[in-house]
Amino acid sequence: MRRSCKTLSVLITLLLMIGVFTSGCSDTPDAKTGDKEFYVIGFSQLGSESDWRIANTKSMSQTFTNDNGYELIIENAKQQQDNQFAAIRRFILEGVDLIVIAPTIEEGWDMILNEVQSAGIPVIIIDRSVAVRNDDLYLTNIGSDFLHQGELAVEWLEDQTSDSEYVNILHLQGTYGATAQLMRTKAIEDAESTHSNWKIVAQLYGDFTEAKGYEVMTEYLKKNKDIDVLYSENDNMTFGAMRALDEAGITYGENGQVKIITFDATKTALQYCLDGKISLCVECNPMHGPLVEQLIKRYRSGETIPKHVFIDEAAFTREDLTQEMVEERDY
Ligand code: AHR
Repeated sequence: MRRSCKTLSVLITLLLMIGVFTSGCSDTPDAKTGDKEFYVIGFSQLGSESDWRIANTKSMSQTFTNDNGYELIIENAKQQQDNQFAAIRRFILEGVDLIVIAPTIEEGWDMILNEVQSAGIPVIIIDRSVAVRNDDLYLTNIGSDFLHQGELAVEWLEDQTSDSEYVNILHLQGTYGATAQLMRTKAIEDAESTHSNWKIVAQLYGDFTEAKGYEVMTEYLKKNKDIDVLYSENDNMTFGAMRALDEAGITYGENGQVKIITFDATKTALQYCLDGKISLCVECNPMHGPLVEQLIKRYRSGETIPKHVFIDEAAFTREDLTQEMVEERDY
């Protein structure tokens, strides 16, 4: 009798242990539901088209780490807005705490942002902007003042060309409808209309990629070589264009035929500028992570946060740079 009691209690203990283990396995602590370990952020990144974009993704993933109390889910939309919509709907289903969107183009966001709002999930827009009827659909938009960037380029070009009889400008454009494209384009088009000696001889579509920049420039240079200025809306298109210019035997930079204006000011572009190959680098800062985190902290502590936050940016010519500055550039 005693013996069978002991066997029974051993059996019960064993069964209880199995219960504990199995419930431990099927009920893994989930960051998205129940008792949360991390604040979960769904990040819809528009793509990986440029060095700038890669630095932007890195800045986000280095900031929103488990060690800092976050789980960051990054979805790369490969420059397709539809892919962003699909990712955002997944984030809603997963019940993330907050969604960060780097939108590919400005238009077309009303419906999806309404869905996110109905799900009660706050949204932060980074880098480019969204053109929505109701800006209550997002908490804040953190990024560059792209029009100001274009104006910095225009100011510099004015200085350089005040004595020139004519200035033929070749314009390489980024993704149509993206804030970075719209505003940089606006700056040069507005300036052309007020400078009788300036002429935009062509606008080529480079989609912010090096491959496309190279392709369209190569094609263009087969028939046209009379260019004084290349106004290129990002560094990677510029690198492609420089290769095409080299192959076409057209010189650029100091003492060259073409002055190059480029946007982003990545380390590689700054080095070309210091080497006298690029004439002007307009900065576009991709290191958004720390600023986004700061704003999320303020939001979570109940503070009202500003609707639009611009990052400070500058423009560099060869004279502004030193090798040390180039080395220190972290993107
Ligand atoms: O929106 C920022 C722009 O997008 C950067 O200039 C470019 O490099 C990126 O692809």
